[in-house]
Amino acid sequence: MYRIAVLPGDGIGVEIVPQAVKALKAVAARYGHQFEFAEALVGGAACDAAGHPLPDETLALCKRSDAILLGAIGGPKWDQLPVELRPEIGALLPLRKELALFANLRPCILFPGLLHASTLKEEVIKGVDILVIRELTGGLYFGEKKREETGDGGQKATDILTYSTYEIERIVRFAYRAAQQRRGRLCSVDKANVLESSRLWREVVSELAGEYPDVETTHMYVDNCAMQLIRNPRQFDVIVTENMFGDILTDEASMLTGSIGMLPSASIGGEVGLYEPAHGSAPDIAGQNQANPLATILSAAMMLRYSFGLAREAEAVEAAVCSVLEEGYRTPDLVQAGRDDAAIKVTDTVTMGDLVAERIAAQA
Ligand code: IPM
Ligand code: MG
Repeated sequence: MYRIAVLPGDGIGVEIVPQAVKALKAVAARYGHQFEFAEALVGGAACDAAGHPLPDETLALCKRSDAILLGAIGGPKWDQLPVELRPEIGALLPLRKELALFANLRPCILFPGLLHASTLKEEVIKGVDILVIRELTGGLYFGEKKREETGDGGQKATDILTYSTYEIERIVRFAYRAAQQRRGRLCSVDKANVLESSRLWREVVSELAGEYPDVETTHMYVDNCAMQLIRNPRQFDVIVTENMFGDILTDEASMLTGSIGMLPSASIGGEVGLYEPAHGSAPDIAGQNQANPLATILSAAMMLRYSFGLAREAEAVEAAVCSVLEEGYRTPDLVQAGRDDAAIKVTDTVTMGDLVAERIAAQA
């Protein structure tokens, strides 16, 4: 029996999370597992109902669960709140920090059915399979932040970027082990030509490289990486990088998969893992049954794999997503004007969720 904390959050979060729950229920029925779901408020929804984006009960529920399924948080409605009450700073970052989720895994895989869905050329993205490992509890996100008056009527704002040897070593070792399980190539991304924290990062990686002779180590500056990701993405196997670079590069890399609506994530390293799509709450399409639930469903597959050790069940979910896409079903974000053939069936959030659950149930 596995206990899953369900935190739909805001915007499209409340639409996509139930689709992933449906997929997990289909897995439970098909493979004979018991999942217990307990829902809690987080983000703007929690602010409205309880006055804080991460209520104590929500954090307590997360801590006593085996895994957390999160939708998305934030939205324009809460952007004017004091900084510490905003959903991102008040809920998502403390959740990551409190639960010691230092490793954020974002697999960018192009499903064959989506070869035509990306804005990028087919010959560039065909066969893309990259695992980006983003450090998630350090760097600029968690460094000291302050504002000062400059005396000339203006202000000075500061965000401090810090990394310790310990923090770098722990995420880089994690990435080496992932590379050993894959194609044996690790690219460490930094800005060592400018930043001191990146110089330390590069030194630590270079030192550890000797311990993993079976993995080929390369270093790349982040600006070059941003370019290489769309020039020749197939050169990458595992990418490891610090928090902010990882945030930016993974939004870019999501386009290799067709849409940001396809990019799942697992945040692990502590006692309980957190699984959420890499995208945000998309207020522009919220409440319209238009959002792509696949990143959340694929995040649930990562939960099965990383938190529960259910690899076969994770593959069943991924195979179900793959077949639904090959059958031509698409949420609107996956439709590229002028590049679709007649076989494309544009569908909505709930139907997409139903289709995936049905395919899981029907698996041999
Ligand atoms: C992500 C998101 C978050 C981040 C935001 C919502 C704070 O963009 O998970 O990539 O920057 O980490
Ligand atoms: Mg992001």
